[in-house]
Amino acid sequence: MASSNALKKVVVIGAGVVGLTTAVKIQEKGGYNVTIIAETFPGDPKTIKYTSLWAGAHHVSHAANDAKQMAIDRETFDVMWELSAPGGPAEHCFLRVSQTDYLLDGRDECLDWMPDFKKLPEDSLVHGATAGSSFTTVNIDTPVYLPYLLARFLSRGGTIVRGSVQHISQVVEGGSNLFRHGRADPEPVDAVIVCPGLGARTLGGVEDKDVYPVRGQVAIVRAPWIRSGRTLSHLEQGLWTYVIPRRSGDVILGGTKQDNDWYPAARPETTTDIIERCLALFPEIVPPAIRSEREGTVEDVRALIVEEGCGFRPQRKGGIRLDVEWIPGREGQAKVPMVFNYGHGGGGYQSSWGSASIALELLEKALATASES
Ligand SMILES: Cc1cc2nc3c(=O)[nH]c(=O)nc-3n(C[C@H](O)[C@H](O)[C@H](O)COP(=O)(O)OP(=O)(O)OC[C@H]3O[C@@H](n4cnc5c(N)ncnc54)[C@H](O)[C@@H]3O)c2cc1C
Ligand SMILES: *[C@@H]1O[C@H](CO)[C@@H](O)[C@H](O)[C@H]1NC(C)=O
Repeated sequence: MASSNALKKVVVIGAGVVGLTTAVKIQEKGGYNVTIIAETFPGDPKTIKYTSLWAGAHHVSHAANDAKQMAIDRETFDVMWELSAPGGPAEHCFLRVSQTDYLLDGRDECLDWMPDFKKLPEDSLVHGATAGSSFTTVNIDTPVYLPYLLARFLSRGGTIVRGSVQHISQVVEGGSNLFRHGRADPEPVDAVIVCPGLGARTLGGVEDKDVYPVRGQVAIVRAPWIRSGRTLSHLEQGLWTYVIPRRSGDVILGGTKQDNDWYPAARPETTTDIIERCLALFPEIVPPAIRSEREGTVEDVRALIVEEGCGFRPQRKGGIRLDVEWIPGREGQAKVPMVFNYGHGGGGYQSSWGSASIALELLEKALATASES
């Protein structure tokens, strides 16, 4: 066995779904000692600065004609399908569901690779829809899946450190101990993996102004009788209505898509609007006992609300950033590669494993160059 000082020291910034998945991917490749530094971890109280706990989340790729993004999403689906298998290692984090997708503007979704994919006949579409399909997918129970990823990382010897990084140079010079004890690590950092989500706008050494928030408001209701998902999207108007049941019996009702809207709390009138849209799309969210006597109302659904809130999707002009830059190392030492993996917008779960694979490839190539020079 290689001695531990033969391991390359990698620091991942960020513990959202992207940082955690990337850390696990690198660690399980072998040859690395991985530390995650983040301000917020799974299990902390929900905050607007941590998008991953606000997601639905389902796997319904919107890559459409973008071949690179489609490959990322498909690889992720394959991993999640295996994780969610009955008796599989993370079955408890997922619900496999029959998903129905209605489109109001007829764009071709390119989802025919999903299990059980069928185009819907026109006479079975909801009012106003011009196309629709059904298929099987996975819904991710985000408050269960994030701790699963963290536990998987920790159980294999990963280290976590809470800290707020102002500039990547702090990590490169001081290592993770700087954030734990205020003192530098004796061993230099071989690479930094940058997964700060929306934090990429402000994190020193990145300051990527192409990253911006797309606000999404949701209501979480208790409705364990709902066991299938439904979405109605109108791409041009940026309108998007969805019902995403989780394994726990909670159901996410959404949503909204508001570019550069930084309002960090639920707006009551938006909640009402979301309920109205979801009720029209999926009347069965009203408790069966009420529906057997009369038509359901907005108030019937409102009574089921467990939580309201919103998250900021870390959108990026040009899509996910996956590339490498070099930053000066400690005094007298070589430059250190920074591998960027952020800007997942509305698809951080469904692209998590595929983008982590690319980040790992970039890391290995960069370290190979570093050892040649
Ligand atoms: C309402 C809603 C519904 C969604 N539905 C889906 C869905 O169905 N399917 C899907 O795939 N995606 C969905 N998404 C998108 C998904 O939630 C995001 O793409 C994903 O969570 C982004 O993850 P992330 O790890 O990049 O960012 P975050 O989860 O925001 O994590 C960022 C991490 O970086 C840390 N950090 C940032 N800056 C610093 C710093 N300077 N120093 C230290 N730490 C720092 C933070 O503390 C945190 O740990 C949805 C989003 C919303 C809001
Ligand atoms: C990884 O590095 C940390 C120091 O940052 C050390 O405490 C730990 O033992 C190392 N783990 C392995 C597996 O070498």
